[in-house]
Amino acid sequence: MTKVISFISRKGGTGKTTNAINLATFLSDGKKKVLVLETDANYTLNSLRKLELFKLKQKKDTYFKIVGSQDNRVASEIVSLKARNNYDYIIVDSAGKTTDKGIRELCLESNMVLITTSITQNDLLVAFQTVKDLMPATVLNKELKLCLLANRIPRFTRMSSVRTQLALINIDVIDTYVPQRKNYTTPSTIKPDRHYKYVGEQIIKQLG
Ligand SMILES: Nc1ncnc2c1ncn2[C@@H]1O[C@H](COP(=O)(O)OP(=O)(O)O)[C@@H](O)[C@H]1O
Ligand SMILES: [Mg+2]
Repeated sequence: MTKVISFISRKGGTGKTTNAINLATFLSDGKKKVLVLETDANYTLNSLRKLELFKLKQKKDTYFKIVGSQDNRVASEIVSLKARNNYDYIIVDSAGKTTDKGIRELCLESNMVLITTSITQNDLLVAFQTVKDLMPATVLNKELKLCLLANRIPRFTRMSSVRTQLALINIDVIDTYVPQRKNYTTPSTIKPDRHYKYVGEQIIKQLG
């Protein structure tokens, strides 16, 4: 059965795209059938894939699919994709406006929603509001796991202190964090980043 993991947050710059693509390359490297849906009108990942293929001088795209969508239709697209059952995982990189009707519908079709946040005060407040906006979806969709994913955390920070910071937002937290690393500023849509393996494993473990 296709599992849907969506990256959502109320504001840009929290790490949705970075984590969506790293999770996708991790799963694809593990021989899972993956589809990425991106709803950001910049279609960053589509462009990045094209650029990578150009650099590799490959005309044919043989890697997992990255498909452009929009917040207002992504949920209905997922419904038909799930019915066809061609994928193990659909990863959604959303544009991030939690008040959109489309984003709420996306939550109803997701198995897991990951809210990326750093532990700066501003990001924590945004994450708090994001959770508040999305919480009603967990009542309607009992399958939904709404989790925080700590991102851009200074290296060598203890997970226990990250947890303390995140405790004000009363939902599950992925059991590791994504550090601030230079390699995450230049992600690949093709080659998995070995540093992300453990994060990917923890996400899938928590998805159950
Ligand atoms: N863990 C990280 N380490 C270093 N840079 C990061 C990390 N996560 C995100 N970034 C950088 O922060 C910026 C915003 O990240 P992005 O994933 O595009 O956010 P969003 O999709 O939520 O708008 C990008 O320039 C990205 O390279
Ligand atoms: Mg993005």
